[in-house]
Amino acid sequence: MDTDKKEWIAQIAQRLFTERSFGVDFLPAAQNSKTVSRADKRQALESLELEFRNCAICELSRTRTHVVLGEGNPEARLMFVGEAPGFEEDRQGRPFVGAAGQLLTKIILAMKLRREDVYIANCLKCRPPGNRNPLPAEIAACRPILARQIEIIRPEIVCALGKFAAQTLLETTEPITRLRGRFFELPGGSRLLPTFHPAYLLRNPADKKLVWEDMQKIMRAIGIS
Ligand code: URA
Repeated sequence: MDTDKKEWIAQIAQRLFTERSFGVDFLPAAQNSKTVSRADKRQALESLELEFRNCAICELSRTRTHVVLGEGNPEARLMFVGEAPGFEEDRQGRPFVGAAGQLLTKIILAMKLRREDVYIANCLKCRPPGNRNPLPAEIAACRPILARQIEIIRPEIVCALGKFAAQTLLETTEPITRLRGRFFELPGGSRLLPTFHPAYLLRNPADKKLVWEDMQKIMRAIGIS
């Protein structure tokens, strides 16, 4: 092998080593979203599903019924990220199909979209027993899966539903009340807008108007009048 090639391989190895030490454990697709077809994205999401449908990385695998990766349009311009599957999501293997999910569906319809137009996922892919809050180790275990979903779909906007999604995606401990309604840049080029979780809205309906303001910001950003 000539010296140039050896040097080139050493540089790639060094780059991969550096990325790995920063926690990057996947290679981003070389193409941009415009050149990756819907079929490619669907296939990449299906591969992810196959890879993790029997995931046993953390303790939640002992109590869950289904791994709930996500569902929706692989080419979605808007992706919602919640906290974790609840009872009904764990039973059906689909995200946001319980009471909070029904409210999320209403919000999506009010935005003049359908559930099939967007992509819906969670920070945790398995239900915490009794719907308790996710533990930091569980969030850390699932983070690479969420990162890969965003990497594959490359939505223009990611809407973080509630504190756990917002703090996980922004790697911050700032309270949701401070993060809500503001746009942030994510590494892959998507913009993130945190808002309140629909389950919170079921308990605090007066705050629905704030969420609607946030959704109108998203509608403007993706060109829905
Ligand atoms: N709450 C979430 O955060 N995600 C779901 O899928 C359901 C309820």
